Amino acid sequence: MSDFWSGYVAVIVLINIVANAWLLAAMRKGQSDSLSEGEELGHDFDGITELNNPLPRWWLWVFAASIAASVVYLALYPGFGNFRGLLGWSSVNQWEAEVRKAEAIYGPIFAAYAEKPIPALLGDKRAVAMGGRLFANNCSPCHGSDARGGPGFPNLTDNDWLYGGTPEIIETTIINGRAGTMPPMGPTVGGEEGIAQAANYVLSLSGRPHDASLAAKGEDLFKKICFACHGLDGKGNPAIGSANLTDNTWLHGGTLEIISETIRHGRSSRMPPHKDLVSPEKVHLLALYVYSLSRVE
Ligand code: HEC
Ligand code: HEC
Repeated sequence: MSDFWSGYVAVIVLINIVANAWLLAAMRKGQSDSLSEGEELGHDFDGITELNNPLPRWWLWVFAASIAASVVYLALYPGFGNFRGLLGWSSVNQWEAEVRKAEAIYGPIFAAYAEKPIPALLGDKRAVAMGGRLFANNCSPCHGSDARGGPGFPNLTDNDWLYGGTPEIIETTIINGRAGTMPPMGPTVGGEEGIAQAANYVLSLSGRPHDASLAAKGEDLFKKICFACHGLDGKGNPAIGSANLTDNTWLHGGTLEIISETIRHGRSSRMPPHKDLVSPEKVHLLALYVYSLSRVE
C-alpha cells in the first residue's frame, strides 16, 4: 500500500474509534435534560411506550471494552495502515510456519514411500489414500473427482491408455505433461465426402453401427492417410498418444458427429506438466493412486 493510502486508511480508522468513543460518552449521559428518569418521551406505538431510561450499565461496559480491544488489536496486529503490529504477525509467515510443521511431520512419510516401487505400495491403504487426496487437489478439476474424466479428458480408471499405464509412464505423464495433437484432416481426405467415409470406417473399427459402403471407401483413406499415426490396424501409437480407435473407448466421443468433427478440425489436448507444482515424492503417490484406480474393477 502506498503511503497515501496507508495514511488514508489510518485516518478513517482513527475517526471511527474516536466517533465510537464519543457516541459512548454521549449515551452514558443517556437522559434528556428536560425529563427525569423513567418519564415518557412521548413516543408510543402499538401500546409500546418509550421511556427516558439510561442504557444498561453492562451494555456500556461491553461497548467500552470492545473499543479498548480494537485499540489493543491494532497495536499488536497489522490493520492500522501499513503499520505491521508489535507482534510482527503476517498471514504469510503463519502459513510458512504451518508448511514447515507439516513438512516435518509428512516429509519422512513421503520419503519412505518414495523409495518403494509402486506395485509394492498397492496394498498400502494409507499411501493410496494420500495419493487420492493429492489427486483431489491437483487433478480432479480436469479428470473429475472420480477420475473418470469427460470429453477431452481421459478416464483414468478404465485401464485403457493413450500413452501407457505402467507406473513409470504414469509418472512421466504427470511430471512432463502430455500434448496429443491430431492435425485437421478435412482437406487431406478430400472434404466432407471423405470425412463421412473415414468416420464410418472409424465406427466400423469398434463394431458401432455404420454405413458399410461408406466405410469400405473410408478404409482406403485410412490406410493411405490415418495409418501414419493410428497404425494400419487403428490401434494407435502410445508414443504420440494417438487414440486406439478399435476399443470403443473414446477421448472425445464415438458418435458419427463427433468423429467427423475430430477428422474435420483435428484435436489438441494438453495435460500440463506438474514438475513445478508437486514434489517428486508426491508425484510418486499420485502415480500410485492412478495406477491403483485401474486395478480395482
Ligand atoms: C488442465 C487439465 C489437467 C490437469 C490439471 C491434469 N490433467 Fe491429466 N490429462 C489432461 C488431458 C487433456 C490429458 C490427455 C492428453 C492427451 O490427450 O495428450 C491428460 C492425460 C493424463 C494421463 C494419461 C492418460 C492415458 O490414457 O495415457 C494421466 C495418467 C493423467 N493425465 C494424470 C493426471 C494426474 C495424476 C493429474 C494431477 C497431478 C493430472 N492428470 C492433471 C488434463 C489434465
Ligand atoms: C499426425 C498424426 C495423426 C493423423 C495423421 C491422424 N490422427 Fe487421429 N489422432 C491423433 C492423435 C494424437 C489423437 C489424440 C488427440 C488427443 O489427444 O486429443 C487422435 C485422435 C483421433 C480420434 C479421436 C478418438 C477418441 O477417442 O475420441 C479420431 C476419431 C481420429 N483421431 C481419427 C483419425 C482419422 C480418421 C484420421 C485420418 C483421416 C486421423 N485420425 C489421422 C493423431 C493423428
